[in-house]
Amino acid sequence: MEKDLEVFAKRALFAEEEIKNLTEEIKNLKNIRNINVSGGHGFELNDLVTENTKLKHRLAILKRAVEGRMSAARQGGRGDTPGSVSEKIANGSGPLQILLALFSSAITKAFPDLPDPPIVVALSPKFGDYQCNSALPISKLLKSQGISIPPPEVGKRIVENVSEHPLVMKLDVAGPGFINVSIDKNYVSKILTNVVLEGIKPPPVERKLRIVVDFSSPNIAKEMHVGHLRSTIIGESLCRVLEFLNHDVLRINHVGDWGTQFGMLIAHLQERFPDFAENVPPIGDLQAFYKEAKVRFDADAEFKKRAYACVVQLQNFEPTHKRAWEVICDVSRREFQKIYKRLGITLQERGESFYQSRMEKLVKWLDAEGYLEEDEGRKIMWAADKSITVPLTIVKSDGGFTYDTSDMACVQQRVNEEKADWIIYITDSGQASHFQILESCAKRAGLLPSHVKFTHVGFGVVLGEDRKKFKTRSGDTIRLNDLLDEGVSRALETLKAKGRHEVLTPDELKQAMESVAYGCIKYADLSHNRNAEYVFSFDRMLEDRGNTAVYLLYNLTRIRSIARTAGVSSEQLHAAVKNGTQISLDHEKEWKLGKVLLRFPDVIIESLKDVSLHKICDFAYEIATAFSEFYDNCYCVEKDSSGEIKKVYMERLLLCEVTATIMAQLFALLGIDPLSRM
Ligand code: ARG
Repeated sequence: MEKDLEVFAKRALFAEEEIKNLTEEIKNLKNIRNINVSGGHGFELNDLVTENTKLKHRLAILKRAVEGRMSAARQGGRGDTPGSVSEKIANGSGPLQILLALFSSAITKAFPDLPDPPIVVALSPKFGDYQCNSALPISKLLKSQGISIPPPEVGKRIVENVSEHPLVMKLDVAGPGFINVSIDKNYVSKILTNVVLEGIKPPPVERKLRIVVDFSSPNIAKEMHVGHLRSTIIGESLCRVLEFLNHDVLRINHVGDWGTQFGMLIAHLQERFPDFAENVPPIGDLQAFYKEAKVRFDADAEFKKRAYACVVQLQNFEPTHKRAWEVICDVSRREFQKIYKRLGITLQERGESFYQSRMEKLVKWLDAEGYLEEDEGRKIMWAADKSITVPLTIVKSDGGFTYDTSDMACVQQRVNEEKADWIIYITDSGQASHFQILESCAKRAGLLPSHVKFTHVGFGVVLGEDRKKFKTRSGDTIRLNDLLDEGVSRALETLKAKGRHEVLTPDELKQAMESVAYGCIKYADLSHNRNAEYVFSFDRMLEDRGNTAVYLLYNLTRIRSIARTAGVSSEQLHAAVKNGTQISLDHEKEWKLGKVLLRFPDVIIESLKDVSLHKICDFAYEIATAFSEFYDNCYCVEKDSSGEIKKVYMERLLLCEVTATIMAQLFALLGIDPLSRM
């Protein structure tokens, strides 16, 4: 308490002094202004006017500063709310997050009157470890307000205001005001050593959000294609990242299970398998079944009529028609499920059919509220945004609903019933405009309040090695199960080429080939910027060099084997930490690796901005390369000429352990299964 008072008294004194200084400065400025204006000798009129405007500006700023200081002094501080910034930075924050908080607070303290000063902090391995590059833009901003403070001086004032934090060892102002930050080894070592005991923790987030992620979403009775595969892979990984951050995530498979094509399918099912209600019909190939139905539909007017009648019955949920629809959906579902199981995907199916009754209600309401317009027998809705020139089709001319209708009902359901804070859709970029119109229409109708974030995560098309649309040799769409099969056999070939089949047990080999196959397919997808097209190439993704899943899997397996070969168990590592052993970061390569590992929380946060999961892949690769450099240069275990272990470097084995823990966590986020042997 006494200490608090002392601090408070000091702060008040300081503030008072500053107020005095500022008042003095104002007085001076006023005098100068008076002389300039009244005297005027030797000055050009234009110069005088400019000078005068600048001074007025400066005066206003200083006055506001005095007011700010006074009220801060009254509250007992220098404009800071109680508790220092350092205390307010949440545990588990990464260095970038910490530095942003420190510099942001320092800049506000140093320049309290600058609205929205630019806070620029970046990694800078060449000069110090991080760099704050705000001085130059702030100096420019001040200049535009008539205040001239050169960038190095701005830098100096910022540095003077940076609160203490154990991360920061040293701050230097260099050149035109760059602030170089050197970070503290002991701090890094402590943070990393703690990972051995407590495991890796997610970076802190402001608040827990309810997030609906709509991904995969193939269409019943149609082929699930590589586009759906991309959506599935990106969606799964995004959900894992969000769940890791402790958000409440609802993973939704918005399958296309509704619409007029079901009339045709049901009519054909009734004809081909009249006993479908009692005996599950042996439809092996739903695509072929679909084609047959389509042929009948196009050729036979009677059949067509029946098909239309079936749609009406289905939409009224007539039991036998509903049963037929279920039978058909089940066939597709079983196929999709095979893929999800192989790839370890969790999804809750909630297809378009789910919204039938909600669509009916919503359409009535939209109509009554005057949102719908007639257009050649259709009912359409225009977006609020006038730059959008395509409307949604809410009711077709035959009275049926569309993809647009179900998506409007879907937004409403996710906001009202799911209480979503954030709705995310993952589809190919071709649907970007659909989601743009949807968002605007939903807002116009008041279905999407401004506090709910709406994001379409698009992605580029998948190309074959010939850089054309990915197809089979005969030009058909590639069946995903076949593609996964090929992946597994190609992975097996690669493992065999290395003679691994002679070393691993049959079980280990099976695990390795699946993990390699599915891991490499996922990784190849995730490691590319999602907006770009990407070329699907087994040859490339199965390479054991460069930024591939195979390279990373080998690395993790190797790192994990180091302590094992040295005969050190994880209990022993724990015990060592408890007895005070800390990760050593003295060697240049240890320090380099340590600083990379420390960035884990920042990378996770960054990967969510713009949903750029490739940053997680790049990071995993950066860790693997930094580890290799460390391992090539630093003994973890020393052996004599006979191969006997002479010395075990515990503080380095701890660094290996943390590297493995972080890499394994990254793998988990990417949906890749690590292997103990491969
Ligand atoms: N079934 C759609 C397709 O295959 C994707 C659905 C995406 N989700 C949504 N709510 N529209 O393209």
